[in-house]
Formats: sequence, C-alpha cells, structure tokens
Amino acid sequence: MQILFAFSNSPKYNEYVNEIVFVDTYGHLLGGKPMKYGYFDDKNREYVITVPGTPLPWINYLGRNDMYGLISNTAGGYTFYKDAKLRRLTRFRYNNVPRDFGGRYYYIKDGNTIWNPAYMPCKTKLDSYSCRHGLGYSIFEASKNDISSSLLCFIPLNDNVEIHKLVLKNNSKELKSINVYGTTEWCLYNAVDDFSNFQRNYNIGEVEIGKNTIYHITEYRERRNHFSFFNVNRDIDGFDSDLDTFIGQMNSWTNPEAVTKGISFSSKASGWSPIAAFRNDIKLQPGEEITLIYLLGYTENDKEDKYLADGSINNKKALALIEKYSTVENVNQALDDLAQQWTKDLSKFQISSPNKKFDRMINIWNQYQCMTTYNLSRSASYFESGMGRGMGFRDSCQDILGFVHIIPEKARQRIIDIASIQFEDGSTYHQYQPLNKKGNADVGSGFNDDPLWLVACTSAYIKETGDLSILNDQVPFNNTLGSEVSLFEHLTRSVNFISDNRGPHGLPLIGRADWNDCLNLNCFSLSPGESFQTASNYDSHKAESVFIAGMFVLYGKEYCELAKLMNKEKENREISTAISEIEKAVIKNGWDGKWYLRAYDAFENKVGSKENEEGKIFIEPQGMCAMAGIGESFEMPKQAIESLEKYLLCDYGVQLLSPCYSKYHIELGEITTYPPGYKENGSVFCHTNPWIVIAETLVGNKEKAYEIYKKYTPSFIEDISEIHRSEPYVYCQTIAGKEAQNYGEGKNSWLTGAASWSFVAASQSILGIQPTYNGLILDPHLPKEFDKIRVVRTFRGVVYNINIFNKNSGIYEMTVDGIKSKDKFIKYDNTKTTIDVEIRL
Ligand code: BGC
Ligand code: NOJ
Repeated sequence: MQILFAFSNSPKYNEYVNEIVFVDTYGHLLGGKPMKYGYFDDKNREYVITVPGTPLPWINYLGRNDMYGLISNTAGGYTFYKDAKLRRLTRFRYNNVPRDFGGRYYYIKDGNTIWNPAYMPCKTKLDSYSCRHGLGYSIFEASKNDISSSLLCFIPLNDNVEIHKLVLKNNSKELKSINVYGTTEWCLYNAVDDFSNFQRNYNIGEVEIGKNTIYHITEYRERRNHFSFFNVNRDIDGFDSDLDTFIGQMNSWTNPEAVTKGISFSSKASGWSPIAAFRNDIKLQPGEEITLIYLLGYTENDKEDKYLADGSINNKKALALIEKYSTVENVNQALDDLAQQWTKDLSKFQISSPNKKFDRMINIWNQYQCMTTYNLSRSASYFESGMGRGMGFRDSCQDILGFVHIIPEKARQRIIDIASIQFEDGSTYHQYQPLNKKGNADVGSGFNDDPLWLVACTSAYIKETGDLSILNDQVPFNNTLGSEVSLFEHLTRSVNFISDNRGPHGLPLIGRADWNDCLNLNCFSLSPGESFQTASNYDSHKAESVFIAGMFVLYGKEYCELAKLMNKEKENREISTAISEIEKAVIKNGWDGKWYLRAYDAFENKVGSKENEEGKIFIEPQGMCAMAGIGESFEMPKQAIESLEKYLLCDYGVQLLSPCYSKYHIELGEITTYPPGYKENGSVFCHTNPWIVIAETLVGNKEKAYEIYKKYTPSFIEDISEIHRSEPYVYCQTIAGKEAQNYGEGKNSWLTGAASWSFVAASQSILGIQPTYNGLILDPHLPKEFDKIRVVRTFRGVVYNINIFNKNSGIYEMTVDGIKSKDKFIKYDNTKTTIDVEIRL
C-alpha cells in the first residue's frame, strides 16, 4: 500500500505505517492516522524527528561527566552541574502549558518574521524542520524564508560548558539583514528554592556584564564559590540581563519585547530574574553563511581566589573556556572527541543480527540509556523533576548491571559510594544526593530489598572485571569516618540483614517496601498527601515478601560464591544454610498452587493469591523466584511462567498484576491508589519484563522470551508512536496496561531500571553471553528468526568475535579459535587479544 507523509517541502514514503498518513511539518494530522514522527538513522547513531509536534516532548541528554543538560526536540529543557537539585544552572518551569516550555531559545528576526531554529517558542511555521538526537548531542535543522539554520547543542567530554553552535545561511538571491538573539534564563542554583522562596529570591539575583559575556553571580559574594556564564564568540550589538525588561510587560518568551522591536535594553538584573540575552545584527550576502558559538559555562574558584585585584569576580577559568571554544575547529574537534569516546564505549558490545530493530537497541540506544541511568539514576528527566529524588540505592545498584561493561572503573567507584550509605546493621539509606554523596534522611531506610542489590552489582562488577580486590576496599557506614570495614563485610551485613529479619512464614520481612515501592504493607495511610514510602503507621513486624525471598536465594548464592573466592568458609556456610531455609519457606508458604505468592500482609493474609479478589497474581515473584530456580524439582518456575502468560501477558508486554485493584486497600498501600492499568497497579512496568525474558530462557522458551522482549522494546513499537506516545528510542518506566483507559501509552521515559535489565536480558539470556568470575559462558537462546548472528564482545580487554549459526537443531557445538570445546564455557585467558568463537545450534 502506498503510504505518504505530506511535508511542506518534500513528500516522504513511509514503509512502516500501514495506512495512508498525512501529517504536516508540525505533526498536525492532515488525514489518516499518524503513527511515526521520525526515523532511526543507524549509521549516524541518531533518531531523526521530522515534526516538532511529537505526542510528548522527545528528549535527549547532553553531558556524561559533571555537567548535564536535558534537551527536547524543540530545544526545551535545562542544564545543571552534577546535581539537578542543588546546582541547577538554568531555569525550567514545571507543569507548564505547554508542557515543554523554556530552553535554549534562539530568535531570528528577518524583517517582520521571527522564528526559532528549533520551532519553539514562537511556533512560527517553518519551511523545514528536523531534530537529530545523537549520542550526547542534538542538532536542529530548519529553514524559513530562504534562511537555513543548524543549531548543534552538546557538552564536551571534559569541560563544564554547554556549547550551542548556530550556523545561519542565506539561500536567497538578496542581502538579508537579520537580528539574532541568543538567550538563557538562570536558575538561582538551588532548584527547589528557586521555585518556591520568592520573598528572598526576587532580591538576590546578580549578574556581572563582561565582554560578550554575562556572568550569573547570585550568592557568589557570600557562600557560593561558583558562577555560570553565557558568552557568544562575536561582538554583540546589544544585551539584556533582566528577564522582565527583555520580555516586556504581559509578554512571554514567545514574543519578547526586545525581539519584536529588534532592539536591546542593556538591562542589568538586580534581584528578580537574571537572564542573558545577546543581540547580534547580521548581514548575510546571497549564499553567505555565518557561525555563532554560544557557551553556557560553569566554573568554581577557591575560596581565597574569588576576586581579582580590581574587585571584579575572578573569571580566569571562564575566559580560558571561552578562548578554547571560540573557534569552529575546536568545537568540531570536541564533538569529534565525544563521538569517538562513544564509539569506543559502544564497541565493547556490538551485534549484527537479521533484525535491525534489535541491533539498534543493543548497539546504540539501550547502551546509551544505560549510561544515562547510570549517570542520573532517577533524578532528572521530564518526569523526574530533579528537585526530589537524588540517586536511589536500589536503582543505582541495578543501573550498574547494564553499565558495568562500558566503563567498569566508574562502576567500581559507584559501588563504593553506594556502600558508604549503608548502616552497620546492613540496612541502608534509600537515596543519596550526588553532590555530597550523603544519605537522604528525609526518605530514610527500611526498604528491605535494598541491601541485596549491593550484592547483585558487586558480583556483576567482579564477573565483568575479575577485580576481586574491590572486596578488600575499606568502606565506611553512613559516611562516618572511622567506621570503615571491607566491602566484603558490607555484603555480609547485607545478606545477614535479610537472613536475620524473617517473619512468621520464614520469609524475609518487607519493611517499608521491597522493589515495588508502592506495596506498602506497614503503612496504613489515611492522611491525604502522606508519603506512602516514609509513613509507617503500624509496624507489624510481620509483613513478608516472597520477592525478597527470591532475591535472597539468587543473590545469596552469588554472595556464597564470593565468600568461597575469599576463603570465608564460615560466611559461606551460614548463608548457604539460610538460603536453603528460605527456599524451603517459599516452596511451603510462598507457592499458591500455580504461581508464587507476592507477599503476606501485616495480618498474615496472602497477597497475590487466587484467594484474593483483585491482585491475584503479580509479576515480580514469578520473575525473581524463577530466576532463582526456587522449586525447580517441582517445576515451579515453569508453572509460574505459564500462569503469568495466561493472566498477565498483553499486547505491550507482561503486566505487573491482574486483576488491577479498583478500590483503595489501606493494608496494601500506594499500589491501590493508582487507577487500574497505571503504574504499579497493573501497567506493563517495563523494569520487570526483562526478568520474564530471562526466566523464559531458563525454562526453555526461547521464542516466548524474544516475543516478550519485542512487545515492550521501543524500537519495535516505533510504528505505533501515536499510541505509545513516548520516545521510540528509549524504554519507558510504564506502558499502560489493558485495564487502563489509555492502553499502550508509555510514560516516564528514560530513567528506569528497564534500561539495564533489558540489556542484561538481551545480552546475557537471548544472546547468552554471560560473564562469570573466571571467564565467559556462551549459552544463546536465539529465536528462529536469528539464523546467523555475529557479536563482538570485549571482555577484560580481550575481543571475542562470536559467530553463531542457528538451525534450531537442539544441538550445541562451540569451537574456540578452531578448537572444539567440551562445554559452553571459555576460561579467561589474558595472553590473547582476540578470540574467535563459532557456535552451531
Ligand atoms: C511511584 C514509584 C516510585 C515511588 C518513589 C511512587 O509514587 O509509583 O514508582 O518508585 O513513588 O518515589
Ligand atoms: C521506581 C523506583 O525508582 C524503583 O526503585 C522501584 O523499584 C520502582 N519504581 C517500582 O516501584
């Protein structure tokens, strides 16, 4: 069938959509049913968005070390240094209308037409538009009235500066005289305060005006030793630094008075809202092109060195950055360095399979998302305000699982940081702030799965690197100097904490909650607004979690392996005993006949049982207990997976539970507050789906594993972007389940454990390449569709070229450098740099 996207300049044939589709450049429906808003450009590792009007803002991240920016497909978003709450550099207004408003706003005034290179905020109809989200950069290409623009935004590898390179070209046959405005709105550093404490904030804003540079120096004279700056690499024709003056009374960023009049007011901010807005008056001859480089930078000075002799701020570091990035060559070089770093990082795992949707996830986007979740945990996205949660303990531990092969040294440091917020009894703070790495006392502790995730990520790190020495690192409790013990001792406290806190059925106590933050069995909340995660109105000391039991068996075994490697016989023995006790407890009290129970509540009633009216079966214990192999001799994992397929599988993956709760159950907590099909109340909570993918491979269902993977993996549902609504290149936290009104709608994209777990499931279970303490296991579970694949995997510096030929024959044959192997294992051998592996199935 012939399918068309009608663009104002060139109609495009779209091979994927099964309908005739007409959409204008703005995403407005002209006819038919729009399903796609762009395409994957795999060669350039980009997703190219072809209409500004995506169903939700489709965003990207800039930065990968200390400075970060969120950037949407219309250049919306903000920038911060290390910590989105405590060191916010630019302002973002939440819950705005439209949702995505405020960002890197550039204005081109060409006669009476004012337009923006990324469409927002003026929404002037463009002659062409595209947004290319790449790895750590975004490029916006547009044209209007014979002027074309290209705006490139990125943060270089090792400098705290967000670069905006704007190229403008006159494609007409006449001289063009235009005014170009580059703007940024400062945040007064503490994002929460900036958004709430106006009686103070409207008095403290300060700037210093330099040559083509505006410095944002609020609080610099007192307790801050840092400031930010905005610069353009060309002499300006005018500036403003006071928001109200620049915008004008009753206007907004869509029609700033300065811009509509083509002037500047030379305003100097004093209190209120400091901004930086530069005007450049530019004449472009026919065919002429001009490049402007804008820098949004951040610098810190020593306390003693904050001012220069003449009393002005010490801007030496800022000037050095400005100098460095004032030339196109240097900017291009920095972009190139960034691209090369990504090539290097991604090269550690590359696949070529018959399915390009699979390959682009594995080779590019899934690994990219893993890096992002590693960097930001759940702090700053378009759904996480950056003002609340810092780094989550369990989140950060799990993020390492999908990230550790990329930069193991960073993972190592993260493990130490995380372990440092553990308490002596083995319990842990639930979150910490990245800037000071201190545990977050407001949320506190009591999430009883947390300690086990530390075992999970430490063992994954050691398997990837072979670096057992980390277990001897001295790590404090609660960041308290003098309390240091070995990391191995921290792990011991972790497992002991679970083992020592068991309930009436011999299962681990759940505490405030386990992985499911919303299954709050000791909360009993009646007060509106009370946090389900922190309130504990009735600590029963009875509510138990079958999920944690599964985790204990799975990761307890890892702990025992490590104990053996460390010659800790006693520890190994004790935890092995506890594992078999807990395994027995699950078989006896945690099995509901056809699936694993979810929990026992504070009154010892079953949760997730056929006896319940709603919430009869939950996904989490099926995944975790099956991965742990609990009750294998009774075929429990197989039976549990069959039940789950029967009751939980839907079009977009496996739902968290069924039937969804329709009433508030005080004894179950937040989970029952969500309307059916959303969030923890029965959405496809993507984080949990890879567990099922893994479990399916363990019980021998390779086709099913791949089928489930495809259902919730974004590149496979790109064709229904109108339904899915979220970015087709990254995982969402949830996809609304079948009981929801908006069935299939993805929400909370980007910062989710779905990223790391999906990479683990695809790489270690479907492709079957599993790092172990002393080598690699190669145990693929390939669907028929993958008749021939090639994977290049770097493991501890050795490059494995793995070719798999899959006839689905039920046989397994492996040759390693031409020599037939007896088993599925390749012992690590550091005398080689490359190893050729051939597998026939
Ligand atoms: C959400 C959870 C989240 C928790 C903690 C709940 O409202 O549903 O997904 O983990 O809050 O912030
Ligand atoms: C999101 C949280 O970040 C994560 O820690 C939790 O496991 C899930 N929600 C499920 O509640």
